[in-house]
Amino acid sequence: MKRVGVLVGREKTFPEAIIKSINERGKGEVVAEYLKLGGIKFDAPPKYDLVIDRISHEVPFYRATLKRMALEGTIVINNPFWWSADDKFFNYSLGKKLGVAIPKTVLLPQKDYIEGIISESLRNLEFPLDWQGIIDYVGLPAFLKPFDGGGWKNVSKINSLEELWSEYDKSGTLCMTLQENVDFDQFVRCYCVGQEEVMIMAYDPRKPYLSGEQYVHNPDYLAPKLAERVRKDVRTLCTALGYDINTVEFAIKDEVPYAIDFMNPAPDAELASVGEFYHNWITGAVVDLVFKRLGEQRDQPRYRWDSLLSPEPSRAFAVASATEQQARTIAPQTVTTPPEKKSEASASKKAPAKRKKGQN
Ligand SMILES: Nc1ncnc2c1ncn2[C@@H]1O[C@H](COP(=O)(O)OP(=O)(O)O)[C@@H](O)[C@H]1O
Ligand SMILES: [Mg+2]
Repeated sequence: MKRVGVLVGREKTFPEAIIKSINERGKGEVVAEYLKLGGIKFDAPPKYDLVIDRISHEVPFYRATLKRMALEGTIVINNPFWWSADDKFFNYSLGKKLGVAIPKTVLLPQKDYIEGIISESLRNLEFPLDWQGIIDYVGLPAFLKPFDGGGWKNVSKINSLEELWSEYDKSGTLCMTLQENVDFDQFVRCYCVGQEEVMIMAYDPRKPYLSGEQYVHNPDYLAPKLAERVRKDVRTLCTALGYDINTVEFAIKDEVPYAIDFMNPAPDAELASVGEFYHNWITGAVVDLVFKRLGEQRDQPRYRWDSLLSPEPSRAFAVASATEQQARTIAPQTVTTPPEKKSEASASKKAPAKRKKGQN
């Protein structure tokens, strides 16, 4: 018998639907339940074959527990090591390299620091910042938002330099990014499951958050060609980032889908919020993924950072043909280095690494 554990926050309908569906389909061979966690012994034997994580980004104890479970060979969706390492600014930069349209974005030094960090500790920081240069680069209006996080927390639209300073002053110890505004004609959120299955959801961010009015069920919302590009971009990003469950948001302007948020490894899937159609779709897709992952042959775990952060290759051999693997491999856009700089770059060993995470 295989055991599936579900780790949740406040959400109800999605985890309940997953557990019910896995238990029905599992017929006693695969059993799903909510995890119960107390003191975690560092040498405890594994209890679960697979865990679906919906909340460890908010609870460090859960995150540490999941990393420990992964060490015992438990499949954790999503990978807790990579999720810990990832941030939105890295994602934007990676997306740009992969040829996905991304609004111009600048990472800003934090406004405040933890106790004990004084101005002497920060001698590497430029002061004052070239605020005008930053604004000139991203343009106005712009979005000020954390480099990590979600749920529209601490996200603000900035119309002037003064507004930027005023919002930045409130950002405290959060590390923020400033991003070019996309004055969008259309907006979509896309579920991506197993780095493959994509559901494009028409979404109106101007409606109140979590109101149930944001998601619109309209399969023809995007013209076919645009929908095809969106699906391709979603797979490109989720494969490169290695998330098995994720949501990618696009603000679409003049037929160009700009990816503005794609670090959502625990996306909203509640019935009241996303509606019955999307709720049923994501439930079905996640349950399919659970059975697929449980059915895959797994190698002995290797206790090395690269196999923990990026365990994909061993799985890919078991499930995908060489052609499929080739099709899933993403080559970054060519980095154009002027010929005279090339020898310099390789001599100083500063040339960008050829292999990026998830590109195997
Ligand atoms: N560059 C942008 N252009 C236009 N709208 C944006 C941009 N960035 C964010 N927004 C708006 O703000 C909302 C929240 O920002 P987002 O980056 O998705 O952060 P969160 O992770 O908190 O959801 C988006 O759904 C969108 O409506
Ligand atoms: Mg978002």
